[in-house]
Amino acid sequence: MKINIKELSNKYLNTEGAVVVFAFNVEDGYTFQKPALLFDEKTSGALSNAANSSEFKGKFGQIVELLAPNGVAASRIILIGLGEMDALNPLTSEQVGGKVINKLMYSGEKSITIVDGVIAAHAAFGIRLRSYKFDKYYTTEKNSKKNSIATVTFLTVGADVSNRAFSDLDKIADGVIMARDLVSEPGNILYPESYAEQIKELKNLGIEIEILNEDAMEELGMESILGVGQGSSSETLIVIMKWMGSKNKKVQPLALVGKGVTFDTGGISLKPGPGMGDMKFDMGGSAAVVGAMKAIAGRKAKANVIGIVGLVENMPSGTAQRPGDVVSSMSGQTIEVLNTDAEGRLVLADCLWYCQEKYNPKFMIDLATLTGAIMVALGQEYAGIFSNDDELCEQLIAAGKTVDEPVWRMPIGEAYDKQIDSDIADMKNIGGKYAGSITAAQFLQRFVNGVPWVHIDIAGTAWKQNTSSIAEKGATGYGVRLLDQLIRDNYED
Ligand code: BES
Ligand code: ZN
Ligand code: ZN
Repeated sequence: MKINIKELSNKYLNTEGAVVVFAFNVEDGYTFQKPALLFDEKTSGALSNAANSSEFKGKFGQIVELLAPNGVAASRIILIGLGEMDALNPLTSEQVGGKVINKLMYSGEKSITIVDGVIAAHAAFGIRLRSYKFDKYYTTEKNSKKNSIATVTFLTVGADVSNRAFSDLDKIADGVIMARDLVSEPGNILYPESYAEQIKELKNLGIEIEILNEDAMEELGMESILGVGQGSSSETLIVIMKWMGSKNKKVQPLALVGKGVTFDTGGISLKPGPGMGDMKFDMGGSAAVVGAMKAIAGRKAKANVIGIVGLVENMPSGTAQRPGDVVSSMSGQTIEVLNTDAEGRLVLADCLWYCQEKYNPKFMIDLATLTGAIMVALGQEYAGIFSNDDELCEQLIAAGKTVDEPVWRMPIGEAYDKQIDSDIADMKNIGGKYAGSITAAQFLQRFVNGVPWVHIDIAGTAWKQNTSSIAEKGATGYGVRLLDQLIRDNYED
């Protein structure tokens, strides 16, 4: 599907294919935008007749469809309500784009012309996000309903400005889509080695890649992450991505760290059968980091950014870690592994320690599908954030609002921290019955060595049960836009 943004002219009145026009909501009904008015005239009032007889009020998301109208070349005219005029913004424009493509992608139409009214760049972005579908494994006609749209053309005033804005958003969409693809892949296709191969492709964008294999990790004393992968026949890997986009290559890098458990069976503390298949998405944190690196490098962000992902499969087997085992992490701190299903924190512990020791970052942000408990607290609407740095939290909260990937700050502190003290080692990998997301965060904090840090628990937001206006149900790619926006707003030259 090709998306173009062109300067507005009256040519659209003779365009073939689907044409989209807009109306706003006003007190006593709707008011057509000029292109809608012109179409109404050309069709001898067919558009207003249809609007009037379908209770169209121009409310946000309302749609009127006119098929093969007399007097114009268009095969259909779609009239969309934008709500109240001053409520239109980048996010609502995105949603409108999503609604347009959702309405038309299986219609058999080949082209869509969208005539002025929304913020074209953001609507185009919404079209890219909403048209994504993970359909590569369908083989039959019935399942593989294909998007028939080949071109989408926006006609807008100031097309050059919109095109510039879209060129960045297009790269961000590439990142979101890569993250969704990674999260959607099943565990037999995406395992540490195959995952690392996919990440290597980011070299094309100027990202440097370095990989630590099990030997290298052993050398570094990373028993914590190695213990998690001990039962798997796949090799545990840490992949490091470097984007040095700042003018000054010596400027302290920003660090993004992701949990990449390509499948989480729970290990010997085996999860129950029902729903276990969902645990292919337990690498969602790492996918957000990989996707964000792709977006950042794609749009050539002027910042130095390090991405580190711990890739490992958590399996039960004769060689698997036992509940009760004690391991020594790279930091030197020892961990009593009382539950092998609380493995994400064991992966991140060594990744975070390695990150701060090797790269002296300005801050570290880790993302992980870390706890079921975060869904109990926040549902699927907000990701939970845990942090030792107020300013960084404020920046993330603001970025989350801008891109509609919201975060909610949760407390941490001494009273929670002592719940992970162990009788026989420096700490244990589970807390008590309550506050499971917080005790998990306390565990991570013991490995950040005082560096400004935020942990984002995305267990509730990485995968959605319901389709939204910009995403089909399934992998959301949550985190890519959030991280990109944080960097764009605060950390570029
Ligand atoms: N990957 C899971 C967390 C998770 C659960 C994500 C459900 C999404 C949906 C994590 O590794 C895990 O199993 N956590 C345990 C921790 C517990 C054993 C302390 C949990 O949340 O139950
Ligand atoms: Zn687990
Ligand atoms: Zn897990």
